[in-house]
Amino acid sequence: MQLPKSLLFFAVQSGIALGQSNSTNSTSDVGFLPLSTDDYFSFVLFEVLSQANGGGTATGEVMRAAAKIEPGNYESYYNEFKFLGDSLHDIAISINATKFPVSAREAYFRAASYYRTSVFFLTGNQTDPRLFDTWDIALADFDRAIPLTDVKGERVTVKGPGFDIPVIFWKSPKAAKGNGSVPTILVGSGYDAPQEESYHALGREVLDRGWNFVTYEGPGQPTVRRQQALGFIPNWWDVVTPVMDYLETRPEVDIKRVALGGLSFGGILAPLAASREHRLAAVLAIDGLYDLQKVIMDALPPSKIQLYENGNRTAFDAYMNGLRVSPQAPTMAKWFVDQGLWSFNTESPYDWLKRLGAIVLDADILNNVTCPVFVGKGQNDDLVGGQEQEVVDLLGSKAYFYEFKTALGAGAHCQLGAEPQLAQATMDWVAEVFEAVV
Ligand SMILES: *[C@@H]1O[C@H](CO)[C@@H](O)[C@H](O)[C@H]1NC(C)=O
Ligand SMILES: *[C@@H]1O[C@H](CO)[C@@H](O)[C@H](O)[C@H]1NC(C)=O
Ligand SMILES: *[C@@H]1O[C@H](CO)[C@@H](O)[C@H](O)[C@H]1NC(C)=O
Ligand SMILES: *[C@@H]1O[C@H](CO)[C@@H](O)[C@H](O)[C@H]1NC(C)=O
Ligand SMILES: *[C@@H]1O[C@H](CO)[C@@H](O)[C@H](O)[C@H]1NC(C)=O
Ligand SMILES: *[C@@H]1O[C@H](CO)[C@@H](O)[C@H](O)[C@H]1NC(C)=O
Ligand SMILES: *[C@@H]1O[C@H](CO)[C@@H](O)[C@H](O)[C@H]1NC(C)=O
Repeated sequence: MQLPKSLLFFAVQSGIALGQSNSTNSTSDVGFLPLSTDDYFSFVLFEVLSQANGGGTATGEVMRAAAKIEPGNYESYYNEFKFLGDSLHDIAISINATKFPVSAREAYFRAASYYRTSVFFLTGNQTDPRLFDTWDIALADFDRAIPLTDVKGERVTVKGPGFDIPVIFWKSPKAAKGNGSVPTILVGSGYDAPQEESYHALGREVLDRGWNFVTYEGPGQPTVRRQQALGFIPNWWDVVTPVMDYLETRPEVDIKRVALGGLSFGGILAPLAASREHRLAAVLAIDGLYDLQKVIMDALPPSKIQLYENGNRTAFDAYMNGLRVSPQAPTMAKWFVDQGLWSFNTESPYDWLKRLGAIVLDADILNNVTCPVFVGKGQNDDLVGGQEQEVVDLLGSKAYFYEFKTALGAGAHCQLGAEPQLAQATMDWVAEVFEAVV
C-alpha cells in the first residue's frame, strides 16, 4: 500500500507501512527546504511564509519565528507568532493612518496574519480562550487594514438558512471608476483556512486583473465556527446561493461572469455548491478532491476501519483520542483530528468522520454541475493529493486539468508559495471562459 508521506502518521502509530519511510520520492521530496524538523510544522510555516507573496506576512519575520519555534511544540508556535502579532500591531497603531495609510495598512495586515496563525495548533482544546480572544484581535486588525486599501474592502453579513455568512467584498478598481459591472471571483477556503488569508493568496492578483474579488465563510470555517458554534454542513449550496443572491444586488457585479473558487477541502465544497447553484460561469477546484474521509480511511489500520464500519463508536473514539495525545503520533495526525473535531463542532472522532464522509463528490453530483471546472493538481501534493484524476474523469468534458510543477516550486498543496503561477493559470483560463459567455 503506497501512502502519502503525511499520512504515514496513522500507520506509524499502528506499526504498519513503516517500510515506506525510506522511499526517496514520496518522503524526502517535499519540494521546499524544511522550515522545521517537525514535518507538519515545516508545512504550516511554509504556508505562513507563502502569504508574503500577497502582503500577508514578511519573509524575514516568518523566518525569524521559524528559527525560534521548538519543533512540535504548540505553545512555542503560539508564543512566537503572538509576539510577532503584538509587535506588528504596536507598530501599526503608532502610525498616523491618515498621513501614512500604506504603512499602517501593511502593518495591520501582517499583525492580523500572525495573530491568526498563532492559534492554528490550539484547536485540540475547544475551550481554550485564546482561540476566541486572539481571533477577535486578528479580525479587528484586518478590519483596520481593509479601508486603507485602494479598493476599500467591505465586510458584509449575508443571511443564510439558519446561519450568517460573513463576506468580504473587494470592489474592482475598474468598477470603482464607474465602469459598470465586471467579472467576479468568489473564493471559499477549506478545512482550516480563514477567508482573510485568501485575500493574500489570490485577492491582489484578481484585483490587478480588473475584477471584483469576494470571499465568504460557511459553517465549520474559522469565524463562523467561533461566532456561531456551527460545524461543516453537506448542503454547501445553502452557503453559496445566498452569496450569489447578494452579488446579484451589487451593480459592480456582472452576474453572468462569476467564478467560484474552492481552496483545499474547498475543492470539494465549490463543485458541490455548483451542483445546485447554476448561476456560476465557472468553478475552480484548487485542487481536485472528491472524498477527504477516504484519505483518512486509507491511512487507518484495517482493525480500526472495522471498528468504524461496525459502528463501534466507543472503541473507535478511544483509539482516535489516544492518537491525539500519543507522543509517537506525528503532529499532522494529531492536528488533523483536533481540527476535524473543532471544525465539525463535535467531541467524537466517530461523529466527525461520519459527517466528513457525507461531504463528497460523485458522478451524480458532478453531473448536476453545468459550468466548466478547472481542476488543479500540485505535482507533489502529499497532503491530500491523489484524487485529481478521478475528479477529472467524473467531470468528463466539463473538466480542464492543470498540473503545477514541483520543478518550478509550484508542486505543493494549493500551490503554496507559487501564488503567481496559481493566479496566472486559473485567471487566464477563467478569462477565456468569461469571454465565451453570451
Ligand atoms: C528501506 O531501506 C531498507 C534498508 O536500507 C531497504 O532494504 C528497503 O528496501 C528500503 N525500502 C524502500 C521502500 O526503499
Ligand atoms: C523518483 O525521483 C527520480 C529523480 O528525482 C525520478 O527520476 C524518478 O522517476 C522518480 N520515481 C518515481 C516513482 O516517481
Ligand atoms: C495625522 O495626520 C493628519 C494628516 O496629516 C493630521 O491632520 C492629523 O493631525 C494627524 N494626527 C495626529 C494624531 O497627529
Ligand atoms: C482547556 O482550556 C481550558 C481553558 O483554558 C482549561 O481550563 C482546560 O484545563 C483545558 N483542558 C485541557 C484538557 O487542557
Ligand atoms: C472603462 O474601461 C476602459 C478600459 O477597459 C477605459 O478605456 C475607459 O476609459 C473606462 N471608462 C471609465 C468611465 O472609467
Ligand atoms: C467495540 O470494540 C471493542 C474493542 O474491540 C470491543 O471490546 C467491544 O465489544 C465492541 N463493542 C461492540 C458493541 O461491538
Ligand atoms: C441534481 O439536481 C436536482 C435538481 O436540483 C436534484 O433534485 C438532485 O437531487 C441532484 N442530484 C444530486 C445527486 O445532487
